[in-house]
Parts: sequence; structure tokens; C-alpha cells
Amino acid sequence: MGCTVVAGAFWGDEGKGKIISYLALKDKADVCVRTGSVNAAHTVHFEGRRYALHMVPSGFVYDKCRLLIGAGANVHVPQLLKEVEETGVKGRIRVDRQASIIEPRHSEVDKSDGHLKSLGTTGWGVGPAVQERAKRSARLAKDVPELQLFLANVAEEANNAVDAGKNVVLEGTQGLMLSLYHGTYPYVTSRDTSAAAICSESGVGLSRVDTVLVVYKSFITRVGTGELPGELSKEEAVRRGWFETAAGTGRERRSAPFDFSLARRVARIHGATEAAVTKLDILHPECKSARSFDELLQDAKEFIVEVERAAGVPVTIIGTGPDALDIIDRRGSA
Ligand code: IMP
Ligand code: MG
Repeated sequence: MGCTVVAGAFWGDEGKGKIISYLALKDKADVCVRTGSVNAAHTVHFEGRRYALHMVPSGFVYDKCRLLIGAGANVHVPQLLKEVEETGVKGRIRVDRQASIIEPRHSEVDKSDGHLKSLGTTGWGVGPAVQERAKRSARLAKDVPELQLFLANVAEEANNAVDAGKNVVLEGTQGLMLSLYHGTYPYVTSRDTSAAAICSESGVGLSRVDTVLVVYKSFITRVGTGELPGELSKEEAVRRGWFETAAGTGRERRSAPFDFSLARRVARIHGATEAAVTKLDILHPECKSARSFDELLQDAKEFIVEVERAAGVPVTIIGTGPDALDIIDRRGSA
């Protein structure tokens, strides 16, 4: 695997957590660096349990994977400590000294500010925390007593791992259409979510990356406000089996069919070299739990070929069910 950046395609919730947990187990990832912040929930099903991780990297499922939170991330200290406890990763998780901190007052502002409310933010306070960081008055991880045992130089560690030829995953959050720069402004999150930004937040330079894996879901969902081309009514979404609620906030997700021209645009901006497609079993129920491409029926295969044509890169990983191992892995055979 080398160094792989995992980046979301559309409005988040593509299933990056599942893909990353699979890669960590399958490729025995040595290091997984989480970027972004607590607003994103990555869902991981592992050993009969479901985790909705807001802070701990999704690579935690592989017990030898070193878990890092990058300098560009914003850390919610109580949530991090809670998840460290839940996942039992205390001895192998580290936070960059310069990661910034979300305080309770940031969440209060996020929930009460009229403008932020109108954007349909998650309410975790990430926007206000980033604002303070940009003003250069935010507290950093190194200033927090509870984090002293966890501090590290994440860029240094991650680059050492790359130097040593280890397997490194850089875990992006949200999707490109929520990027502050490239998304549906102002209905976006407070940071860039592109693959380049994931590298930047981790402190791993672009030339050190071997694979940029863009993660698409077989249909599109979005929470919060803002345009969603081709949006279905809730009734139609339920009928198609596309209706979802958010892993983090419990909010209802809006949904729309896969958008091939948007898929192309997104792949170009991320600089994708490979793609993953999740939840193929929702679009094509007969694919459920398939583990090889040959098992797929013709229309499911055709859908994947269409995605490849749009993205301009091979679809190497296909999700066919919720378990981390419900995957068709075409890497090396494509
Ligand atoms: P904020 O990131 O909480 O400021 O919210 C800004 C917008 O990004 C809102 O539309 C949120 O619903 C959306 N958003 C933030 N994080 C996620 C995520 O992890 N998945 C999906 N949408 C998200
Ligand atoms: Mg999510």
C-alpha cells in the first residue's frame, strides 16, 4: 500500500471509515493519521460492534497500527478520551503538539449563531474553533494537561514511516463538495477537504504519497443545508433503500442518484489515482457480501465501469456490505 490518502468524493458519509478499517486490516497498516475534526463521524463495524468515531483514526481495528492525529486537526478533548477508552488504544495513539483544541464555548457559538445555524452545521463548534485558530489565539494540544501523555510530532513520525517503506494511511474527513474552497459555499465545512489538504494537515508532502483513493458511495447523500442536484423526496429515498440518518448527529440525510459529471470533477481536484465505491449492495441488492467482481450481475458491473469512465481511474475497492471485510478488492488485478 505504501502511503495512501483516503479522500471523500461528495458531501461526506461515503463510508471512508469502512474502507480505511479494511485497508488497515488487509494491508497491516503501520500508521493511520486522522485529519479534520470532531464534526465528522466515521463508522466502523468490527468484531460485531459498531463504532462511530469522531476522533480516533479508523485504522484502530488493526492492533499494531499506530494512530496519529495530525497538526492540522482540531481536537475535542473529552470526545477523544472517551473514544480512546472505548477502543482501548491508549498505548498507541498520539496527538500532534500543534493540533488545535475545540472548547465548549465553540460549540455554544456554533449552536446559537444565526448564520452558522442557517448553514446547518453539526453544532460541534468546529467553525468557531477554526476561526480562533486563524486568529492565532486558539489553545493547542501541547497546552492541555490531559493530553500530555499523548503528545507527539506527527509529521515527523509519519514521514519516518514513509521513509522506512511502511504502510501509511492519511484519513480524510467529509467530502470534496464540503470543501471550504471547492464545495458548495457557503454550505460547506470550515476547511479544505481535498487530498492535498489531507496531506497538508498530516504534514506529509504530496510527492511522498503513492495512492490517492477517492471514495464514492453508490448514491449521494448530504446533511444540512445547500444544493443537492437531483435530490429525491424522502418517500422515494425510503423506497429505494437510500434513506440514512447521520452517524454523528442522528440527522436525516437527503439523497440523490450518483452524479457522473460531479464524480469526474472531484477525481480531478483530488488528483485521484484509484477509486472506491461503497454500498453497491444498496443499489444492487444481489451483490450483498460479494467478495469477487465475477460474482456481480451485469448491471452492477456496468455501473462500476461507468464510474471508472467518469473518474478516469480504476475502481479498485467495492463495498458490498457493512462489515469491514464485505469488500471486493481488485488491487493488483486491475
Ligand atoms: P460544520 O462542519 O459542523 O461547520 O458543518 C458545515 C456543513 O458540513 C453542514 O452542512 C454539515 O452537515 C456538513 N458536515 C460537517 N461534517 C460532516 C460529515 O462528517 N459528514 C457530512 N456532513 C458533514
Ligand atoms: Mg460520517
